[in-house]
Amino acid sequence: MFKEMVINSVKEMDDFAKKVGKTVFPGYLLCLEGDLGAGKTTFTKFLGASMGITDMINSPTFTIMKIYEGTLDLNHMDVYRLSGIGMDYDLEEYVYGDGVCVIEWYKNIIESLPEEKLVIEIKIIDEFKRLLKIEGFGKYEEIVKKISN
Ligand SMILES: Nc1ncnc2c1ncn2[C@@H]1O[C@H](COP(=O)(O)OP(=O)(O)OP(=O)(O)O)[C@@H](O)[C@H]1O
Ligand SMILES: [Mg+2]
Repeated sequence: MFKEMVINSVKEMDDFAKKVGKTVFPGYLLCLEGDLGAGKTTFTKFLGASMGITDMINSPTFTIMKIYEGTLDLNHMDVYRLSGIGMDYDLEEYVYGDGVCVIEWYKNIIESLPEEKLVIEIKIIDEFKRLLKIEGFGKYEEIVKKISN
């Protein structure tokens, strides 16, 4: 099942990330899709903050993955450059591990990812406005209801 919602500002994205942050658990898998500059990393920063992570989260584009330690670790991946290569860099260990995994450009490794996941697609409407399409599979279906209103 999926829901759509409009985000009107960076502040509203922060509020949305806080809601998502209340639903995380060990092994949580959150997949992000959306154009360059849509707000995937911005969302992830807010999510990390809501999980109590105080380190500065920035784009992992040139490192594929960064791990931020917290009550639950946040494994932030950007697999933009892995197109066609498949899962590499021992990412699997983290996807199936005990942290919270956030993957930007997840479609590049979709064949290596479990069916059960939360998928958030961010579409740019204008400078600050975004359309979110939120889809949950398996146990994440319930989470879609919690975060989309
Ligand atoms: N409502 C909003 N939500 C999120 N970001 C917004 C919003 N409005 C404006 N922005 C701005 O859009 C930019 C989003 O950049 P960000 O790096 O998060 O995108 P990205 O999707 O991670 O891009 P990339 O594919 O290059 O990794 C930031 O400069 C942010 O301040
Ligand atoms: Mg990014």
